[in-house]
Amino acid sequence: MADSSERKLDVEVARRPRHIAVIMDGNGRWAKARGLPRLAGHRAGTQALRRVIEACIEFEVPYLTIYAFSTENWKRPAHEVRGLMFLLEEVIERQLDELDGAGVRIRHIGWLDQVPRHLQQAIQGAVERTAGNRRLTLSVAFNYGARAEIVRAVRRIVAEGIPAEAIDEATIEAHLETAGMPDPDMVIRTSGELRLSNYLLWQVAYAEIYPTEVLWPDFGRESLIDAIESYAGRERRFGARPALEDGNEPSAASADPQSAGTTLGDRSYR
Ligand code: FPP
Repeated sequence: MADSSERKLDVEVARRPRHIAVIMDGNGRWAKARGLPRLAGHRAGTQALRRVIEACIEFEVPYLTIYAFSTENWKRPAHEVRGLMFLLEEVIERQLDELDGAGVRIRHIGWLDQVPRHLQQAIQGAVERTAGNRRLTLSVAFNYGARAEIVRAVRRIVAEGIPAEAIDEATIEAHLETAGMPDPDMVIRTSGELRLSNYLLWQVAYAEIYPTEVLWPDFGRESLIDAIESYAGRERRFGARPALEDGNEPSAASADPQSAGTTLGDRSYR
């Protein structure tokens, strides 16, 4: 919890992001700058993750999604891949009681088939044990890639025999790994990189992107306050023009929703 000397987050709850997605980058550079092996950077990254989880709980952000291991990360040296698997298992082993006690629900997005059996069991155990928690949903993207996710969603839709004319955006959403969750409002990428790297490509369509030079192991409560304050200062337009820029002229969407962009349930985007 914050003590009284800590910086306050000066953004009312309604203006904070409900869902933050993070690309945790810069562990290797953090380690290199200290003459340490890359895995020491990843280990320091787990401490940053802990700080960010605590801060999300403090700031009443109900969804946090982290990119812990991409389908492309298998191309890294075998010892680094093993190290990342080991770290996730260790985090679950050491922190599950505390996370569960704090009301954190753990979800996994991605595919467990190529992951060692003991890690699969640890992940599934954490997901099942915390399924009833509601304070913060922590989705761990592990062996995840957005294009593969979309391909799998399409295959499942076809396998279920859903007719082409019945498929809309809601159908796709319901078949993604993130089904049932709101889309991310903000994507944070650390270490100065400006790519999305095959992360939640469908879901971040209207997310605000927050790149920061901070390396992930240095990220924490202060950095998250900076990110949320930046987010709250932006005007999210979802493709529309600024409100009341030229009076009360009704939008094309309100005149004829079918002619203006795609209709998704009761939302209309452009
Ligand atoms: C990118 O940094 C980071 C990763 C590929 C893994 C992220 C994993 C953690 C933060 C550890 C905690 C997560 C788990 C397993 C629960 P990089 O290695 O690409 O850094 P660089 O660009 O500086 O080389």
